[in-house]
Amino acid sequence: MAEVTGTPFDSARFREVLGHFATGVTIVTAMEGDEPVGFTCQAFSSLSLDPPLVALAPGKNSTSWPRIAAAGSFCVNILSEDQEALSRDFAVSGGDKFTGVGWHPAANGAPVLDGALAWVECEFELAHDAGDHELVIGRVREMGVSRGRPLVYYRGGFGRFEP
Ligand SMILES: Cc1cc2nc3c(=O)[nH]c(=O)nc-3n(C[C@H](O)[C@H](O)[C@H](O)COP(=O)(O)O)c2cc1C
Repeated sequence: MAEVTGTPFDSARFREVLGHFATGVTIVTAMEGDEPVGFTCQAFSSLSLDPPLVALAPGKNSTSWPRIAAAGSFCVNILSEDQEALSRDFAVSGGDKFTGVGWHPAANGAPVLDGALAWVECEFELAHDAGDHELVIGRVREMGVSRGRPLVYYRGGFGRFEP
């Protein structure tokens, strides 16, 4: 347990405070042989324009991420406002998350989920050890957008964006 000035670090307060940073929600996908694999990921951001890089943070407890990393390339699906149920389904470890889920292969073969607002196809560039997560850098090779509004995550709850 981390300590600040001798007192135990208040992880619950840390989550509560950081929960005030509203974000979109993504599902990171790849193919493991013929089998699609994926998990819900909020810790995602653009990182560099030239070269085009993105960053994401999979937890060390994720069973999907090691399979995605082994694939060497992946797709970050940025979810639209009506994909809350999908994001919850892809946040449950184990089981076949893709049953009944529509998708088509990206140029790199990774699943682009039907209804996604946008997607970026990436090559796995590198991963840094970062506490109980990893900081992963992906090099963007292809990308696309669709029409709609984003799914938003704020203070542990899902919301919509009203311009
Ligand atoms: C809204 C939301 C955001 C999440 N963001 C992350 C994240 O940024 N990184 C992460 O590792 N797990 C995140 N999770 C949890 C993973 O989705 C979950 O631990 C993972 O899917 C477990 O499945 P796996 O064992 O198949 O990887 C999030 C879950 C939800 C519901």
